[in-house]
Amino acid sequence: MKTISTQPIAGQKPGTSGLRKKVAEFTQPGYLENFVQSIFNAIGDCSGRTLVIGGDGRYYNRQAVQIIVRMAAANGFSRLLVGRGGLLSTPAASCVIRKYGADGGIVLSASHNPGGPDEDFGVKFNGPNGGPATETVTDAIYRASGEIDCYLIEETADIELDEPGEHRVGGCRVEIIDPVADYAELMTTLFDFEAIGQLLANSPFTLCFDAMHAVTGPYAVEILERRLGAPEGTVINAEPLEDFGGGHPDPNLAHAAELVRRMNSDDPLAFGAASDGDGDRNMILGTGFFINPCDSLAVLTDNAELVPGYRDGLAGVARSMPTSPAVDRVAEALGISCYQTPTGWKFFGNLMDAGRITLCGEESFGTGSSHVREKDGLWAVLFWLNIIAVRKQSARAIVREHWQRYGRDYFSRHDYENLNSEGATALIQGLRDNLSTLRGREIEGHKVAYADEFAYTDPVDNSVSRGQGLRILFEDGARVVLRLSGTGTSGATLRVYYDRYERDPALLELDAQKALASLIIAADTLAGIRQHTGRESPDVIT
Ligand code: G6P
Ligand code: ZN
Repeated sequence: MKTISTQPIAGQKPGTSGLRKKVAEFTQPGYLENFVQSIFNAIGDCSGRTLVIGGDGRYYNRQAVQIIVRMAAANGFSRLLVGRGGLLSTPAASCVIRKYGADGGIVLSASHNPGGPDEDFGVKFNGPNGGPATETVTDAIYRASGEIDCYLIEETADIELDEPGEHRVGGCRVEIIDPVADYAELMTTLFDFEAIGQLLANSPFTLCFDAMHAVTGPYAVEILERRLGAPEGTVINAEPLEDFGGGHPDPNLAHAAELVRRMNSDDPLAFGAASDGDGDRNMILGTGFFINPCDSLAVLTDNAELVPGYRDGLAGVARSMPTSPAVDRVAEALGISCYQTPTGWKFFGNLMDAGRITLCGEESFGTGSSHVREKDGLWAVLFWLNIIAVRKQSARAIVREHWQRYGRDYFSRHDYENLNSEGATALIQGLRDNLSTLRGREIEGHKVAYADEFAYTDPVDNSVSRGQGLRILFEDGARVVLRLSGTGTSGATLRVYYDRYERDPALLELDAQKALASLIIAADTLAGIRQHTGRESPDVIT
């Protein structure tokens, strides 16, 4: 074992979802080592503990796994569970941590950001509940990164990652585990595999899952094709690649282009889905029909009792603040609590651990439940398939009925990417300073009822998170939210979220951008979006 002296490296502050940087930054001498040692220093005595290690297979994943194995062994961990090939999807890592009672896990991923030598890499730490480290822990990691003076590492050869087996590194037992098996087992306890299997076998129902050359390929092939009997080829882009085949492993209409093309065929029963780099996001499509994640959460909540794992009812639900209130309406009808948290999956963990919620989700293509402590892409796909198998209706028909019953919350998010950081901060600060003057202003028929900055008090541990987004609420119930992304790696990304409720049965199937057009103008007038960003239109619209 060696003790290597080092010095703090600036900027190792975990964001919405771990530390994310360009590969070139991560591969600087000592950069990864400093951050990993800071994690170990923040959690305290590691001796005798168990750690789970795996990642989404992107460029630098394998090298990073080898370094972390040697450092974990040197820091006293007695058992490491490492996904074969260095792979573990984010939800599978959460599943493995919980199943084997590990003390935490390190997941290597930059989620939906591109991979490759010039692209992004990331390191996330998950706690013993299987969920992303809480803010208290990430703050402690950041503090540790500012005080570090050495790191510990075993001087051993690389271990064989591609074969199942056991290795000894220093005093530590390293087990190479099947990355898919435990997760697939968990799915069989939640969903009616027989009913879904029949749906796939006996009807003209056609399914396409786009793994986008990211980590979910092996999971989706095992579950959808092998266990549920979907035809070979149902999973496209199934092989994980270090650069995701040059693509952008982000499941949205722009990036899952091949899937979208297939879905524009005229097969009315088709169902399409995609997941992201590390397998925690999901996008659900019917033929020519995109299901907004806010609506998806509402539909899953409303139909949960059709699914074996949720048959006994839901303890409660939660959504991130910028997510539309579609699920709130269902929660009210079901008589269960609905919580609003800041953006970031870590905020759901306490609510789940305390048994207050069962399902939760975010507008950013994340949906999940208390089966793990991460959002879960394939889980959401199976949930939809289970509902379709029971209701024997297409996804599109199910959503239309939902709107007829509850009304529709039109929702859209506009992203302005790669902005100059000072300009973006100035826009937010300018609006923050003016929030109290907005009340009563009327633009395009929308009159401001009130405006504030969202702060969250965790009802379980009473911790307070401030500065979680500026909200402008209008008297007609419409809303605009502005915040800066916490997951980018270059410049700043401004996210503007729009939602508006419609209950007129004749106005439920409008194009979302058209339905929100007046609100978009109102937001620009109030916040000076075009003026401050110098952009005429957003880079990405979801
Ligand atoms: C990740 C997190 C989510 C979050 C999303 C967007 O996927 O797990 O919880 O909603 O990033 O975060 P951002 O700060 O970029 O808006
Ligand atoms: Zn992800």
